[in-house]
Amino acid sequence: MCGIFGYVGQPTEVGPMVLGALKQLEYRGYDSWGVATRDGGRVAVEKQTGKIGTATVTLPTSPIGFGHTRWATHGGVTDANAHPHLDESGRLAVIHNGIIENFRELRDELVARGHQFRSDTDTEVVVHLVEEGIAGGQSLVDATRKTFARLHGLNAIIVMDVTQNELVAVKTISPLIVGLGRGANYVASDTTALVEYTRDVVYLEDNQVAVLRPDEVILLDLHTGAPLPLRRERVDWDAGDMGLGGYPDFMSKEMAEQGRVVRQVATGYTEYARALSDTIWESYGTFLVGCGTASYAALTGSYLFSRIARRHVNAVLGSEFKYQEHFLTNRSLALALSQSGETADIIEAMVTSRARGAKIGALVNVRGSTLDRMADLSIPLGAGPEQCVLSTKAYIAKLAILTLTAHTLAGTPEIARDILLRAADALDRFLAEGGSARVRAVAEQIAGADHLYVIGRGLNYPTALEAALKIKEVSYVHAEGFAAGELKHGVIALLTAGTPCLVFAPIDETRADILSGAMEMKSRGGLIIGISPLHDPVFDLHLPVADVGDASPIVNALPAQLLGYHLAKLRGYDPDKPRNLAKSVTVK
Ligand code: AGP
Repeated sequence: MCGIFGYVGQPTEVGPMVLGALKQLEYRGYDSWGVATRDGGRVAVEKQTGKIGTATVTLPTSPIGFGHTRWATHGGVTDANAHPHLDESGRLAVIHNGIIENFRELRDELVARGHQFRSDTDTEVVVHLVEEGIAGGQSLVDATRKTFARLHGLNAIIVMDVTQNELVAVKTISPLIVGLGRGANYVASDTTALVEYTRDVVYLEDNQVAVLRPDEVILLDLHTGAPLPLRRERVDWDAGDMGLGGYPDFMSKEMAEQGRVVRQVATGYTEYARALSDTIWESYGTFLVGCGTASYAALTGSYLFSRIARRHVNAVLGSEFKYQEHFLTNRSLALALSQSGETADIIEAMVTSRARGAKIGALVNVRGSTLDRMADLSIPLGAGPEQCVLSTKAYIAKLAILTLTAHTLAGTPEIARDILLRAADALDRFLAEGGSARVRAVAEQIAGADHLYVIGRGLNYPTALEAALKIKEVSYVHAEGFAAGELKHGVIALLTAGTPCLVFAPIDETRADILSGAMEMKSRGGLIIGISPLHDPVFDLHLPVADVGDASPIVNALPAQLLGYHLAKLRGYDPDKPRNLAKSVTVK
């Protein structure tokens, strides 16, 4: 998951331009960054580990340049492993997103032919292979085409030849978008980095190669080199409010926007819910597919459709989908849930589903993303830009849409609108009436804990999984979510005196059993933190939430998000860019 941006056009301060674009793409990876431009007939490059922050570059004015923000896959986080990577001649450079699965054999081959490697990355094999192609008389584009054809895995690469003022871009699954300007052309990982310069774009598809020059962009077939027509599209939407808006960080801002997001679904998604419920009704086998937080929204969906619409839908992890795809038929519906619309495991699942004739649906937040463009039915989450690596408001949007759709399928959409509006008000009230301070007080009481367990049942079993993910990925506390019924099957062995135990206890058919599970944890020394509309003596600490019926997963998520946030802040961590993570997982 890396961020990529390139420019070719009139000579300009391309270094600062690229660095500015990379800052907008840093959510895709922030282990290191690098910028390369032309300095006479050679590549000038500046690169370093860490986030961009207030860094600047002092590269020469240049008609061409590109840059990269890295999420490390092969090779540690070092300056040498930061992209771009250069060939021995110093005229070629490459930046890359993805994993070259056969890089070891390619590297051995190149070393045997005398190439010197400066990094431990898989990426560097590309620039040496292209260098060989050019040395053998191939053009830059042909050398790049032939090199890319040898790479195994899902990859996006851009090769720059500063003696030709030419960028060559090619990809498989990992996104690349070409921006068409006047006397200049651009390429980036997503449109947010392009719209400052142009809204005319070409979405690069698999098996296509783009050649960018100052005054033209040509598209070729990857395998034959035959010219292809440019399918120009217009980015007719604004990325939305990308600023902090007075909040200390994006996580705070995006949690505070959740009430608005739910209200928007309750009042404006009738037609979307009708279209999705009709599509589910017509399908024979629906698969809700997601990764991470999105997978917990999918799992919640399976409970919602069962209890509300008496409809069986399958929830499948994106990374596990290919091991269960045998059930797919041309009557199946594969419904992808994804904030970014670029998660490699999800895109691969949808490609497989399409190959088996299934219909593709998507609940996706980023317009113009790969999933948004490939789906037969694409429904926008409408959450607005989600820039914190942790998914909060996009998750809540998925839950709200699935709740409305399940009730629409059951013929009771008005019930959904009622509980969603109550949930939206509850989210706003929780924050307005000191909820965050109450959660911070709990965080302060458990700040020293290394382990934390979360239990839920039924509709809030996925909530327990999501709560644990939120806490662990931002505070690095080892948090695990369990189905409460699993406690006696081994989990309870983990408990020691004072272990914090989060318990979701809504007022529904699970209450008695979940409180019984809490008692079991308490009897072994657990510190019971109840998230519930009603207090119960088993709770050592109680975080009250509203009673909103089937929308309970929505209101239950906020205290858990806040607990992760406050634990992270107490430990001095950045809630927006946790270590080792990135916002969009575009590699498998
Ligand atoms: C969410 O907090 C995590 N950062 C992560 O699990 C995320 O939900 C997952 O990578 C899926 O991303 P997507 O919704 O963009 O597909």
